[in-house]
Amino acid sequence: MSVTPVRIPMYDLRGEYLSMRPAIDAAIRRVLESGTLTMGPEPRAFEEEFARYCHARHAVGVGSGSAAVHLALLACGVGPGDEVITVPNTDIPTTMAISHCGASIVWVDVDPRTFNMAPERIPEKITRRTKALLVVHLFGHPADMDPIMAVARNEGLRVIEDAALATGAEYRGRKVGAIGDIGCFSLAPTKILGATGDAGVITTDDEDLAARIRVLRNYGHDLSMDDHEGLLAGVRAWTLVAEGFNERLDAVHAAVLRVKLPTLDERIARRRHIARLYAELLRGLDVVLPYEDPAVRHAYRAYPILVRGRDHVRDHLARRGIATQAYYTPLLHLQPVYRHLGRGVGSFPVAESVAERLVCLPIFPSMTEEQVREVAAAVRECVPPAA
Ligand SMILES: Cc1ncc(COP(=O)(O)O)c(C=O)c1O
Repeated sequence: MSVTPVRIPMYDLRGEYLSMRPAIDAAIRRVLESGTLTMGPEPRAFEEEFARYCHARHAVGVGSGSAAVHLALLACGVGPGDEVITVPNTDIPTTMAISHCGASIVWVDVDPRTFNMAPERIPEKITRRTKALLVVHLFGHPADMDPIMAVARNEGLRVIEDAALATGAEYRGRKVGAIGDIGCFSLAPTKILGATGDAGVITTDDEDLAARIRVLRNYGHDLSMDDHEGLLAGVRAWTLVAEGFNERLDAVHAAVLRVKLPTLDERIARRRHIARLYAELLRGLDVVLPYEDPAVRHAYRAYPILVRGRDHVRDHLARRGIATQAYYTPLLHLQPVYRHLGRGVGSFPVAESVAERLVCLPIFPSMTEEQVREVAAAVRECVPPAA
């Protein structure tokens, strides 16, 4: 089968680098010349800057978004015998973090407009074993946090936000990740704020949770960043208080993230501009365009549309050299890895109906208006007008 070369990709990491090249090159050189490649001043400075950006009291850099979710659950005390409620339309790092803690995954269906956890469906999933709600802000649209927090506070549950896809998104004027007990971010290269490789960060207002995560990410050493330098200087003892993980944020990644963070809002604004343009160009077609609740700032990590005959639409765009994705389909409960949980087709009707029709179109800050028009024109070629 011949494959048409991709002319309009889902991301443009090379373009992003070139647009900031002198500052990124200087930051990497600074770290290499400093000789401090793990821990040290760069991760510490990034943590302070990211915490300030999110209006959170603490930020703790970690090795990936997957590590962020796993360590957040462990820090909240999630363990064997516990249940954690989350959604089936997410990437596997969300659910594997639950299983890696020895806890059980409990899925709940989603809201048909935002595709996020449906607050009104949560109470029926709560049992005596429920420990936490693991809330995903899918594609950059915040989940409806007020009613979710109300249920959690009522039932004494922890709330962990999986904001891997929503860095910089806002819910009623508050940054996601700073609303629940802990926020988890992926800073992988293709994310809204991306490092030069795998990276992640956790935000929290809770001093104890932050301290626990600092220990867990660093093998189990009872060390703050400052102590690390004390240890290297020989003035600080080696104290192990847990069996942790090697999940620190590397200094090179932190330095590059510090270059990109000040431009984040501008780049989110660009994503939002592209989303508005798509909405204008796709108007009148038989498609469901992304919903944006008036109380949120959508960060548009993806531009999800719902269409009939999804595979036909994706094939047509592929023939025009336009990349698309149908993220997280088939849904997690229908994947072989979770067959043992016994959730067949029909278990989560809203999530399943969305998954059948979902196509994510390219959206990235350096995408030109011409490229957006070309994608929209290709969609027009294969999708009929609304009835
Ligand atoms: C919802 C969600 N959570 C967590 C992660 C894990 O992030 P990472 O790839 O940085 O490990 C991802 C990755 O895309 C994700 O989509």
